Amino acid sequence: MPRIIICFLLILSLLAMLPPIIAAQARSKPSPNLPINMIQDMDLQAKFKAQSVNDLFADGRSQRPQIAGTVARGESYLDTHFNEGVVNGEWATVNPTQVPVTMASIARGQERFNIYCTPCHGYSGAGNGTVNQRALELVSNVEGPVNGTVWVAAKSLHDATVSVQPVGQLFNTVTNGVRNMAGYGSQIPIEDRWAIVSYVRALQRSQNASINDVPADKRGGL
Ligand code: HEC
Repeated sequence: MPRIIICFLLILSLLAMLPPIIAAQARSKPSPNLPINMIQDMDLQAKFKAQSVNDLFADGRSQRPQIAGTVARGESYLDTHFNEGVVNGEWATVNPTQVPVTMASIARGQERFNIYCTPCHGYSGAGNGTVNQRALELVSNVEGPVNGTVWVAAKSLHDATVSVQPVGQLFNTVTNGVRNMAGYGSQIPIEDRWAIVSYVRALQRSQNASINDVPADKRGGL
């Protein structure tokens, strides 16, 4: 084969490597430009982002304030007993009328408690859930805490400081969290939060029960 053709083929094969190299380089670096988007779906659409400007309104804000006189429909947020566990500025000591304590609500509370609370607080509420055990393992590693783990143990729900709390305060803890515990208001509906509180009360009672709490005809089975 003549030398010139070999040279030509060599250059051609080198040039053929350029596009994949350029593509690989572009893919490995962040870019401020929008990607080339064949199927757009809803990636690009006319909208106003939060806190942005909209000249349509006199005040130039895209986020609109509530129209004066707006009232909530359905659940009333003025009902602080039901929504916040607060009555006249104090923690409620009884359940709101919407969620009376019944066997059914305690059973529901047990189910929800076992899902949401046992990982840290344990099935009995003593604070020895599986997450807690694992965290204690990590912090008590002989060569120092694994990955710098720091752990505040879940509090025992039978602690004297917790068992004296009114139901409203327990409801508030489940809703908004407390100190190192996160709130569950966004995951657990209100009725279920009250049901969990009823179950926590039942758990607390179970740790402080005497023989007199057991109906006479059931005592023989203990
Ligand atoms: C991810 C772990 C975790 C989960 C899940 C969790 N807790 Fe806690 N809880 C904690 C920790 C940690 C504390 C102690 C916080 C502190 O003292 O800083 C605590 C404290 C509490 C207290 C004591 C509040 C006080 O006034 O001292 C109550 C009551 C409580 N939790 C109830 C619940 C209930 C009910 C659930 C389920 C809805 C739940 N917790 C789910 C970690 C958890």
